[in-house]
Amino acid sequence: MSSISESIRAQLGDLAARDLEQGIKSKFADHDQRANDFSFDADAFFLDLSKTHISKELVDVYERFAEEIDFAGRRRALFSGEKINVTEQRSVLHTLLRNPQNQGIEMTSDDLLAQASDANQQFAAQLESIQASLHERDHAVKHIVHVGIGGSALGPQLAYEALKPLNPAMELFFVGNIDAHELVAVLSQCDPHATVVVGVSKTFTTAETLKNLDSISAWFEDAGVMQPRKRFVAVTANPINAIAYGIDEANIVSFPNWVGGRYSVWSSVSLSVALVIGWPAFQQFLEGAAQMDAHFYNAEPKDNLPFLAACLDHYYANYLGAGSRAIFAYDYRLRSLVPYLQQLETESNGKDRQRDGLPVDQQTSAVIWGGVGTDVQHSVFQMLHQGTALMPAEFILVAQADHHHTSHHNELLANGLAQTAALLAGQDKEVVNRLHGDEGLSESALMAKQFSGDRPSSTFLLKALTPFSLGAVLAFYEHRTFSFGVLTNINSYDQMGVELGKRLAKQIRPLVDASVEGIEAASDAKKRAEEFDPSTRQLLAMLKG
Ligand code: F6P
Repeated sequence: MSSISESIRAQLGDLAARDLEQGIKSKFADHDQRANDFSFDADAFFLDLSKTHISKELVDVYERFAEEIDFAGRRRALFSGEKINVTEQRSVLHTLLRNPQNQGIEMTSDDLLAQASDANQQFAAQLESIQASLHERDHAVKHIVHVGIGGSALGPQLAYEALKPLNPAMELFFVGNIDAHELVAVLSQCDPHATVVVGVSKTFTTAETLKNLDSISAWFEDAGVMQPRKRFVAVTANPINAIAYGIDEANIVSFPNWVGGRYSVWSSVSLSVALVIGWPAFQQFLEGAAQMDAHFYNAEPKDNLPFLAACLDHYYANYLGAGSRAIFAYDYRLRSLVPYLQQLETESNGKDRQRDGLPVDQQTSAVIWGGVGTDVQHSVFQMLHQGTALMPAEFILVAQADHHHTSHHNELLANGLAQTAALLAGQDKEVVNRLHGDEGLSESALMAKQFSGDRPSSTFLLKALTPFSLGAVLAFYEHRTFSFGVLTNINSYDQMGVELGKRLAKQIRPLVDASVEGIEAASDAKKRAEEFDPSTRQLLAMLKG
């Protein structure tokens, strides 16, 4: 069955035809309150959507769409603990970690509330016990190595970089990749006698994480550190696997299975971050998210920020032909925001099946890409301003800096604002002639200086980057991702697409070993090699040194 009615499809199609013809500049010309009417104050941040194709008519159609698909019911199901992750038969309740009483929402089971409060207590207790032990050791701990990948690292890395004090007493490092260039680079900066390791894996089966933990264990041993495993803390939803791996039971913090990996930054997965920024700051991070949860849960579609942003994502992807969405943080502290959002959105919504298993009949996740301003202005922005594809862009600006170089920061803000203005305005022939008419340029050079403008962008403005505002921004993106999944009728909470590659990597590994060493692979491995395509077999053969 289609997830969108013919009537809604037709209404959106009509609006798209109009929007493609008229663009965004004309919307400003027709409506002098547009900047104000399509900007929203979310307390923790201000969001300006006026430079997108949003219009009153568009919001009206999406309101009707929301009603047709019972958006409110789907949202209630999320917060109340229904097993909305249908393929894995799990609830999706990361919101409960930031509001453990789930006030105003009837839960499907009281047991879930108990699980949430138990998880939060374990997290706080483990944090306290590590903090106490840090000072008991012969060498005070100076370095923490957080080992984890994907959802077990991207959120903590973002939160750490965004919120760490300028000169933290403890330095936090991240190791995720199986590529030991990363491991070696990190360990070369750490003192084995003053390091603790936080191994984070929801499943505690992830090959990269276990291998990195093994190698760090060997690094401790080589340095003469006694009982290296005692320096490991494990954070997992699968304590049995962590115990089997050899972590002391007292050093394991568990969290419930209903916290998805890419939604786990709110849980003990962020233990290492909380060690650096402290528990009170971590609580403010949760409070910022809880404030956004309350807005998302209670606001009507027309005023609901994550829902409106998801509608625009849906409209751009399905009706205006945008295959990607770019995110530019004009703040170095948010340099890991793009990788974090890439996983959040594309692993959640990059799906070709509806919830009932039928093929989707709409575009799902756009490609999420981007970077940090002003670096990006000197690389990809040419394409943004003059490329032929429609690429909605998002700018994130923070009014206050954490340093005293005011003129740097003002310049940074000026650049961010200038880019959003330039994307909208473009530069027509008249302006080009006025600016360059007397330079004796060729006709082609004058033409090349013209910009069409009318390129959509939205702007987030944060007064300051605080635990609270970061929490609110990340929760906004989570609910936007959920809302997009509802509009396209997919399950945003599984990730079956990543499994095949993992299985094949295991199968191909003995062949790589044999090829690199230039020896015959074992006969069963050789037999399995025949299952691979000729291109992969040829590449394997070429690994031989
Ligand atoms: O391979 C994908 C994935 O399962 C992600 O969804 C997850 O965040 C990451 O791997 C790490 O998994 P784990 O926390 O179980 O080590």
